[in-house]
Amino acid sequence: MSLIGIDEREKPRLPDMPAGFVWGTATAAYQIEGGAAEDGRGPSIWDTFTRVPGAIADGSSGDVACDHYHRWAEDVDLLGELGADAYRFSISWSRVLPTGSGKVNQAGLDFYRRLTDRLGERGLRPFVTLYHWDLPQALEDLGGWRSRDTAERFAEYTGVIADALGDRVQDWITLNEPYCTSITGYAEGRHAPGTREGHGALAAVHHLLLGHGLATRVLRERRPDARVGITLNLSPAVPASGSEADRAAADRQDLLVNRQFTDPVLAGEYPAGLTALYDGVTDFGFRRAGDLDIISAPLDFLGVNYYYRIHVTDAPFAEPDPARRSAYDIGVRTFKPEGVPVTDLGWPIEPEGLRSTLTGLAGRFPKLPPVYVTENGRAELAPGPVPDPERIDFVAGHLAAVREALDAGVDVRGYFYWSLIDNFEWARGYGPRFGLVHIDYPTGTRTPKASFRWLREQLRSR
Ligand code: NOJ
Repeated sequence: MSLIGIDEREKPRLPDMPAGFVWGTATAAYQIEGGAAEDGRGPSIWDTFTRVPGAIADGSSGDVACDHYHRWAEDVDLLGELGADAYRFSISWSRVLPTGSGKVNQAGLDFYRRLTDRLGERGLRPFVTLYHWDLPQALEDLGGWRSRDTAERFAEYTGVIADALGDRVQDWITLNEPYCTSITGYAEGRHAPGTREGHGALAAVHHLLLGHGLATRVLRERRPDARVGITLNLSPAVPASGSEADRAAADRQDLLVNRQFTDPVLAGEYPAGLTALYDGVTDFGFRRAGDLDIISAPLDFLGVNYYYRIHVTDAPFAEPDPARRSAYDIGVRTFKPEGVPVTDLGWPIEPEGLRSTLTGLAGRFPKLPPVYVTENGRAELAPGPVPDPERIDFVAGHLAAVREALDAGVDVRGYFYWSLIDNFEWARGYGPRFGLVHIDYPTGTRTPKASFRWLREQLRSR
C-alpha cells in the first residue's frame, strides 16, 4: 500500500526497541467523550470555562467532542487495527461522582467498564489516567485545588475507581500534567478555572501533589497488584545566550515547569530556589509536616509528556508587586528560536529535548523508576484529512531520541502517541489536529491518516 504523498523509499523506519516495549496512543475524557449531560454526568470546570466568552479560540466546548461516549467501540477497534499494545485514556471524575464526592453514578462507572472490557477483548493494555484536568465544578466551588480538601476528595474518587476497575486495570496514572492544572489554570488563566493567582496557584501545586500521594496510597491498599505512576510535562529550558541573566532566567523556567514537580515526587523535597522565586508571593503555609513523605511514596513508573524545549530570555516581571503577582510571572520571556523548525502551532521541533529530558532525569534521580513517554505528538491546522508526512517524521525523530536515551542506560518502557484521534485541544478548540485518525466533527466520521497506516506497518514488522 502506498501512503498518500509519501515516497515509499523515503519512509522512515522506527528503531528497534527492547522486547516488551509498549506502543500506545493517548486521549483524555473531556477532549474526546462528549455526552456532557448524559447519564447523570455532573459539570466539570471545563464545562464552565468553555462558556466564558473568549476563553476558547473557536468558541467551542467538549459537549459533543468526538462523540466517543457513543463511538467508543469503534475507537477501540481502531486501536486494534493499528496494532497498538496499550491505550492511555482518562476517566471523567464528574461522570462517576457528579459532585466530586459522595454519591456514585453507576452509569458513569458502567461506561468505563464497557470500555475496559472491549480493550481486554482486543488484547489492549489500559493505562488509566485518573485526573486529566476536568475537576468537578462542585469541588471548584469549594475552593478547587487551592483547598487541601480537594486532595482528600481525589483520594476518595480514586478508591471508587480502584474498586470498580481494579480487576481489569493495573497501570494507573494519578495526575496528568499537574503543571497545567495549577499554573496554566490558576496562574496563567489560559485553562480552567481561568484565574491569575500567586498564592492560590502554588497552593494548587501542593494540593495536586498531595492528592497524587494520597491516591497512590489508596491504590496500593486496595489493589496490591497496581502499578502506579504520575505523568509530568517536562520541557528543558534553554537560555537565549550565555549571559548570567539569561541563564538565571532558564533556571527559573526550569523550576517553574519541571523541578517544582519532579523534585517533590522523586526526591521528597521542593527545590530550594522556589522560596526565592516566590518571595512575597506566598509563604508556602499550605505545606504541612509529613506531606512530602506522602508525595514521594515510591512509584512503579514515571510518565513523561514531551512536546518541546522552551527558549527563554531574562525579562522584567509583568507585575512589580509580589503580593499581586501570578505564579506564572517569573521574569522570563519565551521566544521561538531562529532556524528551528516548528509545527503549525509554532512549537519548536527538537527531539533532542526528549533525549536530554530522559537522560537528565536518570542523572538527577538515582531512584528514578522506569519511564514511559505518555505523550508526544504534533498538530496540523489543516481541517481536511491531509497527507501527514510531517507527523511520520516527527514520530520517527522522537523515537530515535528515545532509542538514544535507552542506549545511554535510561529504562524507557514505552511510548504513547498523542493522540489516537483529532480532538478538543482545550483553549485552542478544534483547530489543531493531533490525531493519527482524522475526525470530521459534523458527522463524527473517523478516517485514518497516512501516519496511522505507516505506524501500523511499522508495528506489524516488529
Ligand atoms: C498535553 C495534554 O495532556 C493534552 O491534553 C493536550 O491535548 C496535549 N498536551 C497537546 O497540547
